[in-house]
Amino acid sequence: MARVALVTGGTRGIGAAISKAMKAAGYKVAASYAGNDAAAEKFKAESGIPVYKWDVASFDACAAGVKQVEADLGPVDVLVNNAGITKDTAFHKMTLEQWNAVINTNLGSLFNMTRQVIEGMRARKFGRVISISSINGQKGQFGQVNYSAAKAGDIGFTKALALENAKGGITVNVICPGYINTEMVQAVPKDVLEKNVIPQIPVNRLGEPEEIARAVVFLAADEAGFITGSTLTVNGGQYHA
Ligand SMILES: NC(=O)c1ccc[n+]([C@@H]2O[C@H](COP(=O)([O-])OP(=O)(O)OC[C@H]3O[C@@H](n4cnc5c(N)ncnc54)[C@H](OP(=O)(O)O)[C@@H]3O)[C@@H](O)[C@H]2O)c1
Repeated sequence: MARVALVTGGTRGIGAAISKAMKAAGYKVAASYAGNDAAAEKFKAESGIPVYKWDVASFDACAAGVKQVEADLGPVDVLVNNAGITKDTAFHKMTLEQWNAVINTNLGSLFNMTRQVIEGMRARKFGRVISISSINGQKGQFGQVNYSAAKAGDIGFTKALALENAKGGITVNVICPGYINTEMVQAVPKDVLEKNVIPQIPVNRLGEPEEIARAVVFLAADEAGFITGSTLTVNGGQYHA
């Protein structure tokens, strides 16, 4: 029986690449998204992967969403916590709304989503929880106190949850991408990318979403059962924590 993988924010950017790579690797995949229906419908038509709309910052919405996915596809074996947002500004100008939105979407979501599936994984003695953090959660970034705090929190969440579930066949790992060629990074002005970002990357280019997807497929495999609580850096050599 094919295992079931749920990818949050799985309809665009890195998440879309993860969804497609997991499908190609033989998983039954569900991709969730927040509100961009046009992008989700286009993704679904292209990939044949079912899409589900809910807000990962809401615990109740996650409960209902996971219930629907499980009714359609079966119990979730692999959860990929990929959905994320930025709301960048210097901390001395940051509003409570900007803080809360980023913390709740990038860190609160790991509780909201993982809590829905962990009991089933424990009962079945198999599970993979893979979360997408960021290089900026490892090293900090100007204008991203909210984002860096949330992404660093993803790493602590992973280490602790891995310990609690290590004996039960469940692995919990986190991937820290560097700068990846998605809409999130394309929003950075081209001259800033060329002058300030790419020169910082030893490999001398942005990463591609498929390069993060490959790491997810690797960690999801049955053969990756001895890898848990680890932080996998995929950043072109830019930073090593
Ligand atoms: N791009 C990079 O260079 C980079 C680097 C390091 C880490 N990351 C991390 O990688 C992950 C994916 O980034 P990306 O660049 O691929 O982002 P993206 O292109 O902006 O796509 C984000 C995806 O997440 C969904 N999403 C956002 N907020 C959500 C919410 N509240 N509830 C449910 N879904 C939500 C979006 O849904 P809609 O389509 O409906 O908006 C979309 O599917 C994020 O966690 C990001 O922080 C990215």
